[in-house]
Amino acid sequence: MSSSTFTSSLYLLTSTLLLQNVLGIDPLYSSCSGNENSTANYGSDKTSLNVLMGSFYHLAPANNKGFALGSLGQNNQDRPYGLVLCRGDVSSSDCRSCVANATREIGKSCPSRKVAIIYYDNCLLKYSNKDFFGKIDNESNLCMFNVQNASNPVVFNQKTDELLSQLANEASYNTTKMYYAAGEIDLEGSKKLYGMAQCTWDLSRVDCKKCLDGAIGKLQSLANGKEGGRVLGGSCMVRYEIYPFVRA
Ligand SMILES: *[C@@H]1O[C@H](CO)[C@@H](O)[C@H](O)[C@H]1NC(C)=O
Ligand SMILES: *[C@@H]1O[C@H](CO)[C@@H](O)[C@H](O)[C@H]1NC(C)=O
Ligand SMILES: *[C@@H]1O[C@H](CO)[C@@H](O)[C@H](O)[C@H]1NC(C)=O
Ligand SMILES: *[C@@H]1O[C@H](CO)[C@@H](O)[C@H](O)[C@H]1NC(C)=O
Ligand SMILES: *[C@@H]1O[C@H](CO)[C@@H](O)[C@H](O)[C@H]1NC(C)=O
Repeated sequence: MSSSTFTSSLYLLTSTLLLQNVLGIDPLYSSCSGNENSTANYGSDKTSLNVLMGSFYHLAPANNKGFALGSLGQNNQDRPYGLVLCRGDVSSSDCRSCVANATREIGKSCPSRKVAIIYYDNCLLKYSNKDFFGKIDNESNLCMFNVQNASNPVVFNQKTDELLSQLANEASYNTTKMYYAAGEIDLEGSKKLYGMAQCTWDLSRVDCKKCLDGAIGKLQSLANGKEGGRVLGGSCMVRYEIYPFVRA
């Protein structure tokens, strides 16, 4: 995925935008690269890519797994490799609907492109003509944060670091839930801080931790002292907020 590089900051300023993000209807971000017109496996309706995406629609939500990866077609350089990951807390029906939307939208946004990625609140979908399985994707990163500053940023940052490093460990090394952890920590008064961390399942557990540590480092520099923030990457994601956002 060396040709798809993006880092940007979005402001969750208006309640409309916040609401859309909470409902997860609009994609948070999409990006494509690989400028060649490839009709063989990426272009028309009956391509390997479309068959692969169709199989994801059935595979990812099954048994609440929320993850699928695969590659299809002749063993040549145009063969598509793809993966989908639903957020660890979404139901299989929301996962299916998100994968369907992601497949449709990426087809519209990135026709005949060999490398593409799309993020929603509920899922991530990406594909490439290069085999990326098991490799940390450091290139695709979207950082978002709440514009509100925490009233006591020093303490708030310590709490954020404490929660996220605990969740990064849990997501990477606790085998009870696959590559996903969510939790909360007490702040001053009756306030709480909520967080989650998740990796794609093709990574080793050690690489999951590396990926999450990298994402937390980005949050520390980009969302420093903000009341909420997230980094969505092609291999892992972290998020914290002062309100509960993970479904029980
Ligand atoms: C891809 O195909 C479209 C439509 O045929 C054409 O306009 C465009 O220039 C092509 N791009 C490249 C990089 O060949
Ligand atoms: C998928 O798109 C439909 C129509 O735009 C929308 O109603 C639905 O909430 C979306 N689902 C997800 C999970 O994004
Ligand atoms: C947050 O703090 C930064 C730096 O001190 C400041 O520039 C910004 O205006 C503050 N944002 C809000 C919403 O108060
Ligand atoms: C792993 O996660 C489960 C379920 O959340 C929890 O009960 C258990 O204590 C965790 N194990 C460790 C070693 O943290
Ligand atoms: C990706 O980031 C991780 C964590 O920051 C780092 O250990 C790894 O070497 C990076 N990989 C690449 C290919 O840059």
